[in-house]
Amino acid sequence: MKDFVCLGKHLEMQVSYTRASSRLDSRRRSATRDSLTVRLPSVEYVLLRGTIMAYAKHVDELLDLLSAQGKEAYFGEPVSILEHCLQCAHFAEQSQASPSTIAAALLHDIGHMLHGLPEDIAQQGMDGAHEDVAAVHLAKWFGEDVTETVRLHVAAKRYLCATDATYMARLSPSSIESLQLQGGPMSQEEATAFEALPNAGVAVQLRRWDDEAKIPQLDVPGLAHYRSVLLQVSKVPQL
Ligand SMILES: [Fe+2]
Repeated sequence: MKDFVCLGKHLEMQVSYTRASSRLDSRRRSATRDSLTVRLPSVEYVLLRGTIMAYAKHVDELLDLLSAQGKEAYFGEPVSILEHCLQCAHFAEQSQASPSTIAAALLHDIGHMLHGLPEDIAQQGMDGAHEDVAAVHLAKWFGEDVTETVRLHVAAKRYLCATDATYMARLSPSSIESLQLQGGPMSQEEATAFEALPNAGVAVQLRRWDDEAKIPQLDVPGLAHYRSVLLQVSKVPQL
């Protein structure tokens, strides 16, 4: 269905309406169809089956979740989860990544805020599979360019451990601890299968930003900076 056009920060649509023609006398007056172009101030609205719907709600809920629960410590790292996610998104943006990759970078660890497991689960020998939790949660609003990149960011770590001789030495102690629970470095067979996945390359990029995004007090843009990016890559809701 294509009944709207996004123009940067605007949404332009043709709206039909009915009017009576004044050139006809009252006995012959009949309704004629006309249309006008409406420009709304942002991409927060879509026209679905004749109804204008706001669809920014899910974006605000995701940003609220990051804001409310992101202040927790990030698994023994010197930054909070929110600082980590913001740094990861910032590195993606600095690298001129696509909007969907920037969104994936911002949201890649949101599964930690959804699975309800304690911060020290790795020390307890548990893997919360936060990448799968996040991908399932985000699939309602985002396409696979976001959800699969998020889902594969843990597999990308296992892949890099198997294929980049210098990579494992750069991992933090917490990340090495969780690596074992996540399956350890990939075998040659697993690495070959991983490379064939459509979002593998971008997941590896995300993983490298993920590993860097642990710098205390780094000055980066806040959550509000990414609201328009999340809206831009959101799926149009279905009625
Ligand atoms: Fe992360």
